[in-house]
Amino acid sequence: VTPVPAVRIDLGARSYEVLIGPGALAETAARVGAATAKAAVLADETVARLHGEAARDALVAAGAVAELFTLPAGERAKELAVVERVCRELARGGWERGDAIVALGGGAATDAAGFAAAVYLRGIRWFALPTTLLAQVDAAIGGKTAVDLPEGKNLVGVFHQPAAVGCDPRFLHTLPPRELRAGLAEVVKAAWIGDAELFAALERDPPLHAGHPALPEVVRRCVAVKAKVVSADERESGPRERLNFGHTLGHAIETEARGRWLHGEAVALGMVAAVRMSVERGLCEAPLLDRLEALLERVGLPTRDPDLDPTALQARLRFDKKRRGGSPAWQLTAGLGVVTVARDLPEGAPLAAVEYLRR
Ligand SMILES: NC(=O)c1ccc[n+]([C@@H]2O[C@H](COP(=O)([O-])OP(=O)(O)OC[C@H]3O[C@@H](n4cnc5c(N)ncnc54)[C@H](O)[C@@H]3O)[C@@H](O)[C@H]2O)c1
Ligand SMILES: [Zn+2]
Repeated sequence: VTPVPAVRIDLGARSYEVLIGPGALAETAARVGAATAKAAVLADETVARLHGEAARDALVAAGAVAELFTLPAGERAKELAVVERVCRELARGGWERGDAIVALGGGAATDAAGFAAAVYLRGIRWFALPTTLLAQVDAAIGGKTAVDLPEGKNLVGVFHQPAAVGCDPRFLHTLPPRELRAGLAEVVKAAWIGDAELFAALERDPPLHAGHPALPEVVRRCVAVKAKVVSADERESGPRERLNFGHTLGHAIETEARGRWLHGEAVALGMVAAVRMSVERGLCEAPLLDRLEALLERVGLPTRDPDLDPTALQARLRFDKKRRGGSPAWQLTAGLGVVTVARDLPEGAPLAAVEYLRR
């Protein structure tokens, strides 16, 4: 058997490996089996139907007793009431400190299950089996867990690193194509902020379907970018902010679009705006904006949205600013691999970028 490629997340005593590629499910299950006799699989309902059995089989083959608990599909998993329900089920079932939680699903499921693992019995071990491209390259890496409140997304959460993460390409075959493309936005982001060679490889031959032979290597390189940033700044006091490239406006667009754009799609628009703002300020060469737009278009992501409402977006940015008690941080860029954070941009700067996106 060839070993499954791994990327190490270096965090002292909390270090762990992200296993990537064919065999990642079996290898992660083996680590669960080595760590504990009992595994509670907290799975996105849709994913449980598609991959629950394979996950359970792998855990049982590794010698662990595995029981499946379902979470509502997608973002609805991230309600405190869901975490309460699951924790009560675990309590009734006699699940203990030495047992483990295995999260199976997209970023919503890994966020919710990771949060449950962080708070149940003041924290038990957890493993992640991310099943969307976005979760494999981003959400399941780095130990941020959270649930939502009606007042906003991710308002209740905690840092709780998993013991291992398994990114198996087999999961991605059932992913709706639009979700795969949305994940590619975070791939482009990772390449832009930390891997210029990956960016060029994506321009040559982007992995547009789950069976693309380069996909595991693409995921590995994205995880490596995130690993480096997270290892340098586990709790987001500085360098980790660069991961928000494209996200300041992206979040505003996502919220204002009310479901019209997926997160990754809104981030694609946000990245175009961030590079455009950087070009306007003389930070970045204009041809790089053309390259970004061409790549996003090639992978089927939006680079323009004539329906954006500048007034609503400005109000949204102001609201976020108030809530965070400071000026919003804008991730600008001087080119591939160079992200700088600007805090005191004139209010008109993002507006000009929004006008650009509306063209
Ligand atoms: N913790 C972090 O650092 C971090 C980072 C980025 C995003 N996030 C969070 O991640 C969430 C978004 O994650 P996401 O984009 O993976 O979305 P998601 O988890 O909501 O999943 C998207 C949809 O795909 C379905 N699905 C998942 N895997 C599937 C598969 N293999 N086959 C078929 N269908 C499948 C789900 O049921 C859901 O309907 C957000 O809540 C966001 O806040 C967290
Ligand atoms: Zn994102």
